[in-house]
Amino acid sequence: MTAERTSVSELQELLAAGRHVTVVDVRSPADIDWAIPGSIHVDAYDALKAGNLGPLAQLNLPPGPVVTVCGMGNTAAIATDLLRARGVQASTLEGGMRAWSLAWNTAELTVADCEVVQVRRTGKGCLSYIIASQAEAVVIDASVDPDVYVRLITERNWRLVGVVDTHIHADHLSRSKLLAEREGVDFWLPAQRRTRFPFQAINDGDRIPFGVAELVALLSPGHTAESTTYLLANAAAFTGDTRFFTSVGRPDLEGGDRDEVATHARLLHESIRRLLELPAEALILPGHVADPIRFDGRPLATRVGTIRDSVPLTSLEQDAFVEAVLARIPPNPPNHAQIIELNERGELPDDPSELEAGANRCAIA
Ligand SMILES: [Fe+2]
Repeated sequence: MTAERTSVSELQELLAAGRHVTVVDVRSPADIDWAIPGSIHVDAYDALKAGNLGPLAQLNLPPGPVVTVCGMGNTAAIATDLLRARGVQASTLEGGMRAWSLAWNTAELTVADCEVVQVRRTGKGCLSYIIASQAEAVVIDASVDPDVYVRLITERNWRLVGVVDTHIHADHLSRSKLLAEREGVDFWLPAQRRTRFPFQAINDGDRIPFGVAELVALLSPGHTAESTTYLLANAAAFTGDTRFFTSVGRPDLEGGDRDEVATHARLLHESIRRLLELPAEALILPGHVADPIRFDGRPLATRVGTIRDSVPLTSLEQDAFVEAVLARIPPNPPNHAQIIELNERGELPDDPSELEAGANRCAIA
């Protein structure tokens, strides 16, 4: 932590290490669509703009470091100055929530003798995975800087052998192509004609070997036409945006009129039915969650049986499912057209945080 500013990586490391730090979010309630896990929200934005602490003055802050946060870091810096004048050990999160969009943490689990690192982009809710067998690793849906995956793999004495995406993403920029190029390994993508760069095409039933294990591709259209789930020994399904814990992938981001979206929703229903034929104890490991991800090291996963038994949307017959899905389409993810375009071109801007700011919105609950 520098004198009056804390970088995203510094705060991320403090939280990951379980160190005591109080994060005070001073944004207007209307601007909040995502938060830092454990942060306290104080609606002090207008007061701070007027040069005083407002409700922050009444806040009973615990001793120790305080990190203030707002959208971009400017209003929080006013809070930091005013709090420091009162003797509080305050600093400002550099770049605010926009910069926090890139923050991540990890959790680990073992599935079918494979080690799995769930890499969670807590600032946006994206989940990616490193899966290793006999020290050979594949990455699914890289969503943070390639350096992160390289570091996590190197630390474990593993070797990256391939990178794979579940679909063409609309809510974040895929880092998978960049990671594969940087490490000189294959980039596997479901077969489609949208992307404009060379890749290894994955078709239904294809196998991606690593160590003594393999991922088996299960075409699961609906969210997008090419959406593919990767099965690990029928013990885990990496579902991308087809199936979340209590929600399903939205079927409308490829455009089209109501009839076309309804057709996608029918495909989604069939894809989910197929997934739910997996053994009840099989794990569902999705590509997103709807809330900020805590720094608790606990994997985010559910079981097929849990979804079958407790998620009402799942048990609907096809017509009712389509109707329910169409009635619940959320607002589009911010900048999704530009993000899709860049993912189809396989390009990553120097500063992706502006395009990617905001919550992910790939789900229908
Ligand atoms: Fe998606």
